[in-house]
Amino acid sequence: MKGLILSGGKGTRLRPLTFTQAKQLVPVANKPVLFYGIEALREAGISEIGIVVGDTKNEIMRAVGDGSRWGVQVSYIEQKTPLGLAHAVKISEGFLKKENFVMYLGDNILKDSLKSLVNRFIQSRPNSLILLTEVPNPQMFGVAELEKGRVINLVEKPKDPPSNLALVGVYMFDSNIFEAVKSIKPSWRDELEITDAIQYLIDNGFRVESHKVKDWWKDTGKIDDILDANRLILESIPSRILGDVDEKSNLKGRIVLEKGAVVRESVIRGPAIIGEKTLIQDSYIGPFTSIQNGCKIKGTEVENSIILEKSEIIDIQSRIDKSLIGREVRIHKCPTKPSVNRFTVGDQSVIEIR
Ligand code: G1P
Repeated sequence: MKGLILSGGKGTRLRPLTFTQAKQLVPVANKPVLFYGIEALREAGISEIGIVVGDTKNEIMRAVGDGSRWGVQVSYIEQKTPLGLAHAVKISEGFLKKENFVMYLGDNILKDSLKSLVNRFIQSRPNSLILLTEVPNPQMFGVAELEKGRVINLVEKPKDPPSNLALVGVYMFDSNIFEAVKSIKPSWRDELEITDAIQYLIDNGFRVESHKVKDWWKDTGKIDDILDANRLILESIPSRILGDVDEKSNLKGRIVLEKGAVVRESVIRGPAIIGEKTLIQDSYIGPFTSIQNGCKIKGTEVENSIILEKSEIIDIQSRIDKSLIGREVRIHKCPTKPSVNRFTVGDQSVIEIR
């Protein structure tokens, strides 16, 4: 069994972050989303992984390398134009050969282990096994219609969804999928849809089984989803205090404080993670907050937020909540009179002021 992680795409729904960063590298609990997929495949016993890359190829290759960090072997497959998930499978035939494979969308995080699903696939030998979960907004996903537990129909982003069962971005296939991806036509959004390829399997007498995901699943394609995923991951993170905390500070709940992090006269209420060499001074860090390496938070209250590397937030009077702050951002109180709001913000940023 091989693994195929799709890590192309432009990430337009995650702008402005994705102007300067691949969407699969946006960190959740201080770890790039993509790494969760690699770890899930490795945990399921898969050691040969192909990563399909697009415009952000170099960045992804730099972050992942040859996979030895995880004890897996990573190969890269270049998708020159983002022509859809089924197109990504098509161009990966040389890597996958005739082997069964798990396809994992690089911006998805799935809490369930893949081990038992991989075993089920090997034992019951369907041509494809798809994962489904109930969602409140099926219009945003591929949607499955079941009859007596059997998948009979799949539609991509339906206006009028036949059910609330969304296709999760983790799929298993045998080599018959290549016939399917070569036979389908582009969809209305001009992409070769994996959903249509699986429908082709159903229509042509191949066996497609489904499994309902028990625990949570997140497609981190939008800012709110990233914050949700951050909350869900932090909920089960084990504590680890490697940084330095003074006596005037108070830490409660599950907290990861990395090496070289410094906490002075502050309150941290977990679950939260504070990266290496980050300074928290005279501040309150509330639950579900991830702060990356080299940040400075002074005289400020933050919760439910993600703050990326080397950013500084200093003396902000009102609490920062549900925010995603990029790298090397500086937010501080206006130093001189008149006291005004002054912004230097990139394209498509969003600022909401109390
Ligand atoms: C893709 C698939 C869709 C699936 C979703 C899961 O959507 O096309 O069927 O439900 O991933 O994340 P996209 O992210 O391309 O909109």
